[in-house]
Amino acid sequence: MSSQFQTVTIAGGTGNLGFSIAQEFLNDGTFKLKILRRKPEKENEKAKLLASRGAEIIYADYNQKDDLVKALKGTDVFISTVSGYADADNVKLYENQFPLLVAAKEASVKRFIPSDFGIEFKAGINRIADDKLKFNEEVIKSGLEYTFITTGLFQEFFDWLGFDVKNKQVKFYDDPDARFPTTALSDVAKYTVESLKIPECRNAHIKVAGAYLTWNEYLQKFEEISGSKWEVTVDKEVRHRYRNKIDPVPSASDDFRASIMQDGLKYETDNDKFSFTPQPVTKVIETLVKQAS
Ligand SMILES: NC(=O)c1ccc[n+]([C@@H]2O[C@H](COP(=O)([O-])OP(=O)(O)OC[C@H]3O[C@@H](n4cnc5c(N)ncnc54)[C@H](OP(=O)(O)O)[C@@H]3O)[C@@H](O)[C@H]2O)c1
Repeated sequence: MSSQFQTVTIAGGTGNLGFSIAQEFLNDGTFKLKILRRKPEKENEKAKLLASRGAEIIYADYNQKDDLVKALKGTDVFISTVSGYADADNVKLYENQFPLLVAAKEASVKRFIPSDFGIEFKAGINRIADDKLKFNEEVIKSGLEYTFITTGLFQEFFDWLGFDVKNKQVKFYDDPDARFPTTALSDVAKYTVESLKIPECRNAHIKVAGAYLTWNEYLQKFEEISGSKWEVTVDKEVRHRYRNKIDPVPSASDDFRASIMQDGLKYETDNDKFSFTPQPVTKVIETLVKQAS
């Protein structure tokens, strides 16, 4: 499969997601890859590794439009994987990405892929999702080609969502028999790279999932692989307690986790548009169990 695009620039390529996507572009080998980093220049092991594999590391001051435009000249596809929040109370995904979109337009970038890569929500449910939805409207308005990519939870983040591998405990904020999409970072990266080669991904919202199991089914795999029964807690009142400040008041991050489990929209996947089969979820679970022992 080939692509009409040659040069891809990733902003945030030193992060959890951006680094995986950058690695996959280098594995693919058919694109020229640039990693855009924020000034001032700082040493970074992941940037060094990507450079040693052939990526060009470029820097810009995100608050200086001319600097950004200069950095983006010659880019065909811009992929934003920037982080947008220090915590769920401090969301800046709209503000952080807006200067990148303005500069991409001015630098005649052809396609823009924003920093979505998560759960789908209706508007008005979740502040982080609202920021992403608001930004995506700007991307559409800009007239650039776009692809929005929904992946569900990154499987490497199971622990963040409540699967405590070390202590063999899990906290569910939703019905344990509800299905939920999850994808390994390496597959998120493969879907992203291949999206540049598939005509239906132009101006489209692509939804993928490496696994779409119930919470109990994920738990069963953790139990099988760790060789023991886990302690389960179900707390469906977190959002209610957070909104109404009822003791013990959950943190904004806990409310975010509960919102992901309870309010994430279910979707039909576009997996069949892609040429590969995602890896079994047990691969990441085995790694997580090994890391915790
Ligand atoms: N589905 C899931 O389970 C899941 C999990 C985690 C994240 N995500 C999503 O994936 C995306 C990336 O998250 P991540 O965890 O990979 O991010 P991250 O590792 O926290 O950061 C990515 C990169 O963004 C740059 N950056 C940091 N702060 C910035 C700022 N204020 N403005 C502009 N750039 C900044 C940094 O690169 P430089 O220093 O090199 O400039 C950093 O390495 C987000 O949209 C996030 O919501 C999804």
